[in-house]
Amino acid sequence: MTGVTARVPAKLNLQLAVGPPRADGYHDLVTVFHAVSLFDHVTVEPAGDDKVTVTGEGADRVPADQDNLALRAIVALRAAVRDRDTGAGAVHVTIAKRIPVAAGLAGGSADAAAALVACNELWAAGLTQQQLRGIGATVGSDVAFALLGGTAVGRGRGEQLTPALAPATQYHWVLAFADGQLSTPAVYAALDRLRASQGGSGGGTRGRNSGGARRAAAPGQGQPDLDAALMSALRSGEAARVGQRLSNDLQAAAVSLFPALRKTLTAGLELGALGALVAGSGPTCVFLAANAERALELAVSLSGAGVCRSVARVSGPVPGAAVVSAG
Ligand code: C5P
Repeated sequence: MTGVTARVPAKLNLQLAVGPPRADGYHDLVTVFHAVSLFDHVTVEPAGDDKVTVTGEGADRVPADQDNLALRAIVALRAAVRDRDTGAGAVHVTIAKRIPVAAGLAGGSADAAAALVACNELWAAGLTQQQLRGIGATVGSDVAFALLGGTAVGRGRGEQLTPALAPATQYHWVLAFADGQLSTPAVYAALDRLRASQGGSGGGTRGRNSGGARRAAAPGQGQPDLDAALMSALRSGEAARVGQRLSNDLQAAAVSLFPALRKTLTAGLELGALGALVAGSGPTCVFLAANAERALELAVSLSGAGVCRSVARVSGPVPGAAVVSAG
């Protein structure tokens, strides 16, 4: 085989409930992941040594050395299959990026997931998706979901996944990309500081829509809870109900580090979005529209409002990382 290309989606978190910091520095989460139609493509070809080339959106900000998440995933997969009689040789990885870097959309994790799927095919390693998810989870918290796709509840660091039972509704989203980036660890650290300064014990504040906060867990309990009303809204397939229940505990922290986001969120709601929130650790803002036509109107108005760098219309759910060509 001369090369394999896999396509992988960006993710949104329709709910992101964050618990207190754990001893290992991570936070226990309850999150509702949702894969959307903004895709990176990752190609792997046999080569003399492992190497990475990155092209497209934000390519100059993606490490092209051993820190690259796709390469780390490949090294982990090679170690996992070394006892098998498959040739897990060196590869040239080419990442064609459309998912912006450090934008809260798990683009790096997506590339790791695509690299796993592509190398599994190139090496004819025959690992199941579940086995790839286990390897992916060692590389990044969102890699397992990028393999699974669809809509799913994530727990633990986000790597323990349960697919959500939902009708085949397609939701129409507008993404507003910010002029800047946020570091995920910095946003989690800002959340911990905000909670400490509020005298809270940890988890449970929930930023809804334009950033309001309310209690999701009993004070003192600290562990995040799945939002039953969001799950019920998703089962109903009614976008307006889903829009009402979007929530992100990291939102207040992201806005504190990137205050311009407040204006972007408000603008989207004023322009008719059914719901708005910061994507993951930000700084991308996400808006839900009633249908494809409304999404187009909202995208046009938002770009005219000058509250973001650029906009994209996407829909979801879409499947996880998959091979699109092999030859
Ligand atoms: O797992 P990943 O490398 O994507 O995580 C990046 C950073 O985000 C971690 O180093 C940690 O600071 C933060 N994080 C967290 N709790 C999670 C997931 C990520 O604190 N569940």
